[in-house]
Amino acid sequence: MKPILVIGATGTVGRQVASQLAARGVAVRALARNPEAAGLPPEVEVVRGDLTVPESLDGCLDGVDTMFVTWTAPASAVDGAWERIAKRARRIVYLSAPIKTPHPLFQASQPNPGATLHARIERLIADAGVDWTFVRPGMFAANALFWWAAQIRAGGPVRWPCLSAPTAPIDERDTAAVAVRVLCEDGHAGADYVITGPESLTQRAQISIICRAIGREARIEEMTPDEALQELSHFPAYVLKYLLISWEAATGQPAWITSTVEQVTGASAHTFLQWATDHASAFRA
Ligand SMILES: NC(=O)c1ccc[n+]([C@@H]2O[C@H](COP(=O)([O-])OP(=O)(O)OC[C@H]3O[C@@H](n4cnc5c(N)ncnc54)[C@H](OP(=O)(O)O)[C@@H]3O)[C@@H](O)[C@H]2O)c1
Repeated sequence: MKPILVIGATGTVGRQVASQLAARGVAVRALARNPEAAGLPPEVEVVRGDLTVPESLDGCLDGVDTMFVTWTAPASAVDGAWERIAKRARRIVYLSAPIKTPHPLFQASQPNPGATLHARIERLIADAGVDWTFVRPGMFAANALFWWAAQIRAGGPVRWPCLSAPTAPIDERDTAAVAVRVLCEDGHAGADYVITGPESLTQRAQISIICRAIGREARIEEMTPDEALQELSHFPAYVLKYLLISWEAATGQPAWITSTVEQVTGASAHTFLQWATDHASAFRA
């Protein structure tokens, strides 16, 4: 059986894709810049490759025709990597974003570099004559680890902007479960799957749910966007700027919710409380 190649297999979604494929007994090859640190299940074949070094991809692509692609490498590396990928690929599942979904959360900050890059890669894939499926998750539940875990662990108030903005956080296990179905089954070619969590929750509600999951009282303070740009210095400023635009535009209406997880996998999407309970240790002091 030819292995399925997972590009981005050490990342939030790709790690789940590789692990879920391996758990189904599917042959999986993971492309990693640093295989020694990949920490993937032993059944996964881990090979060294770097999307910014096209020659390093040849061995990774050997004997592969189906792949899951996460792209967080620089836009300047797309052409070099794509030339090699396009020669081998017959089926590509690409981790994109809901860049076409008519909801202010997804539209208000466009054009932005992330959306433009996704659109460019999607065009390359569609023009290559391969079977493609685009998986478009909304806001990741796992963003909470980067956004709030340090503040919650520190035990003080959680200060955050746009607390009334609702999103429908999607569990990375569900995003991966959709991708795994698409990689393993026929019938998904040309499908464009927007996937979200099952509930519309304001950012304030999400922080409260995490605090409930760890048995802590939530003290939450609203920051102004200007305060956020100054205080959240661990964020790349341009990313925060686009997020602030999106959250401000999304405030006042429910989040966009789809039932794609259930339709594709047959299982309900995890709630944010389930996600927070399963990641509680990351938020405990
Ligand atoms: N966060 C959200 O709310 C959200 C919502 C919708 C869509 N998305 C999309 O989801 C994608 C990110 O997914 P994620 O969070 O699962 O990714 P992630 O956790 O940031 O992981 C990125 C993966 O790409 C690998 N990688 C980075 N540069 C590489 C290179 N030059 N060569 C080879 N591998 C490289 C990383 O490997 P290393 O271990 O070597 O670093 C890692 O495995 C983005 O395209 C984003 O637009 C995100």
